[in-house]
Amino acid sequence: MRIDVVSIFPEYLAALDLSLIGKARQDGLLELTVHNLRDFTTDRHRTVDDTPYGGGAGMVMKPEPWAQALESMQTGRRPVLIVPSPAGAVFTQAMAHELAQEEHLVFACGRYEGIDERVLEWAAESFDVRPLSLGDYVLNGGEVAVLAMVEAVARLLPGVVGNPESLVEESHSDGLLEYPVYTKPSSWRNLDIPDVLLSGNHARIARYRRDEQLRRTATRRPDLLEKLDVQTLTAADHAVLAAQGYAIVDGKVAPVAPSSSVSPSSDA
Ligand code: ADE
Repeated sequence: MRIDVVSIFPEYLAALDLSLIGKARQDGLLELTVHNLRDFTTDRHRTVDDTPYGGGAGMVMKPEPWAQALESMQTGRRPVLIVPSPAGAVFTQAMAHELAQEEHLVFACGRYEGIDERVLEWAAESFDVRPLSLGDYVLNGGEVAVLAMVEAVARLLPGVVGNPESLVEESHSDGLLEYPVYTKPSSWRNLDIPDVLLSGNHARIARYRRDEQLRRTATRRPDLLEKLDVQTLTAADHAVLAAQGYAIVDGKVAPVAPSSSVSPSSDA
């Protein structure tokens, strides 16, 4: 895969030289280049921003340096142009999988109040433009989001993560959060690992882990439960969900009022 990142702070992206992503680059699995947007300016001051039309706080990134930068990265094959922005769609693991299938990704790191909107319109002729957000909070620029997105995508490329099985049982791979994990010692500061993990019974361990995934997701991310494909849920899953206050309603997992064994009307 080829990745180009354009930023006015190319040093920010130095972390992409490290660890598994750095190794993937060395191994030739990932061809990643970071470009300085100021190299695509033509004035003495290498200006990349200007005041916003319509007034308001802050500065806006000028269109021309972006056009020059992106033109230098165009290929005949319509690369995906990712524009990190708190105003984008939220980046998900499913998107990371989709993007990992692409040949060429270009990331445009905005700063200040953002990039002149016409750049995105103009770029749509030769790029598949995707404004993407890391989440519902505001960063100072796109660089930190690019670090996260590049790592999420690149680790899915064949050969980047040593044991591909570790990609299967991780959070979000099946729409649920990952189960808790433990290592030695089995007893630590008066805290014991769950007995089932020492049982050697693989079916019971698998059931315990699935239960924990469902419980954790219900507690921490109930929004994910509502997106689950109910066809993938077993009777045992239904029982765990019921204990968490969820049931299948109209083909979706939905919260239900907690059931009580003694109903107010049953005391007659
Ligand atoms: N730039 C600023 N905030 C951002 C966010 N939440 N996600 C992606 N890019 C951003």
